[in-house]
Amino acid sequence: MSSVELERGVGEVLISADELQARIRELGREITEEYAGRELLLVGVLKGAVFFMADLMRHLKVPCEIDFMAISSYGASTDSSGVVRILKDLDINIEGRHVLVVEDIIDSGLTLSYLVRNLESREPASLEICALLTKTARREIEVDVRYIGFEIPNKFVIGYGLDFAERYRNLPYVGVLHPDLMPEGV
Ligand code: IMP
Ligand code: MG
Repeated sequence: MSSVELERGVGEVLISADELQARIRELGREITEEYAGRELLLVGVLKGAVFFMADLMRHLKVPCEIDFMAISSYGASTDSSGVVRILKDLDINIEGRHVLVVEDIIDSGLTLSYLVRNLESREPASLEICALLTKTARREIEVDVRYIGFEIPNKFVIGYGLDFAERYRNLPYVGVLHPDLMPEGV
């Protein structure tokens, strides 16, 4: 895919690379302050959160480790069912740890609410969520999100880790998927 081909997938730029980086720097400062004196374990949800997590982590000034989970929701690809299968579990035992789950986007909230329940049963010392993007209008279940990068409208977004059919994760900004590419019913 050439860069022209790549950008053809983008309807409009929603959040520029500079805006993303400025907000992530702020989040890093906030998290650093609130976790002062504690050691943090960042749990990234594969694959979308990898980009955000890598940038966020470089703004944290508390000792931190990272681990990853891969989950897949059963059923239709566009709407989350809330029934989640763990494809890759954590390597680290989180009992007694201060865990911060890092997500790219919260849509219905079903995936994350399952994940939080699962992680809570492992008895971490604390468990909070940091999401780069949230579409509050689409929320089907309440999720207590401690850190939010941006509230976005109910549009399908791509870039900075977010994919459409596994593509566009490499865009440095967050864009809205071009209407021509939008499958029906999304
Ligand atoms: P939820 O269970 O509905 O909150 O699903 C959240 C997951 O759906 C995210 O982790 C993304 O993988 C995916 N997702 C939701 N909205 C978008 C979007 O606009 N672009 C790309 N992926 C999305
Ligand atoms: Mg995801």
